[in-house]
Amino acid sequence: MEIIILPTPEDCFREVADRIGNCIQAKPEAVLGLATGRTMRGIYQKLVADFSVGKVDFRQVTTFNLDEYLGYPPDDPTTFFSYMQEHLFQHINLAPENMFIPSSLPKSMEQECTRYEQAIQDKGGIDLQLLGLGREGHIGFNEPSSSLQARTRIKTLTKTTLKDNFGKEEGPRFAITMGIGTIMQARQIILVALGESKAQVVAEMVEGPITASCPASVLQFHPLAKVVLDEAAAGKLKRKVYYKWVWEHKNEVEDLES
Ligand code: GLP
Repeated sequence: MEIIILPTPEDCFREVADRIGNCIQAKPEAVLGLATGRTMRGIYQKLVADFSVGKVDFRQVTTFNLDEYLGYPPDDPTTFFSYMQEHLFQHINLAPENMFIPSSLPKSMEQECTRYEQAIQDKGGIDLQLLGLGREGHIGFNEPSSSLQARTRIKTLTKTTLKDNFGKEEGPRFAITMGIGTIMQARQIILVALGESKAQVVAEMVEGPITASCPASVLQFHPLAKVVLDEAAAGKLKRKVYYKWVWEHKNEVEDLES
């Protein structure tokens, strides 16, 4: 895992948007895995701004969202479909046929999960997967105790997730989510966590044991996972000084090679 600790949330948004932009520049037909939540809004704002000045072009890009609440019409404000339209899709030139989000009202849950997995395969797999982090360690909606090898399926949300996402322990009870096995197949992963409320779970994910009790800890197994944190979210990391030292001296490895 590469741990990138930056002074402010704004710095994190810039860093991640630049990495997404670079990915698209290197491969215009890149397949991106997208996340939702408050953290992602700042990143999408930067991408929209970059698009408006011609710095990034989504014309050939394909996107797969991680998850969706079940039981709402797609245009209900609760859905991640609505979230994505509002924060990203309606502002950029991504082709509608290249935007994939699990259905919030599938005819058959099982078929929808299989269809989603197949669509990811058909597009050649995910090049860059963006992730947020739930306070109990979820990625996507893979709540604690999720199988670390699962594929896209239905999960029951925890009360903590409902409280964080709706301000009360009520709301959608179920969601469809890419599984951890699906997420781990992405060629590159960038997880972003901000603020003091994430400091404890960040420490568990980065420095704790790999366990289904903190599903995000499985990223320790991924060959190309980056964790982008602001100072507050990095506050409980034991080896914070080392991670910062590595980041500051990163370019010197390239100097050694030349
Ligand atoms: C939701 C999403 C997760 C995301 C989490 C973080 O629960 N399903 O994919 O990681 O939000 O949200 P926030 O950035 O608002 O803390």
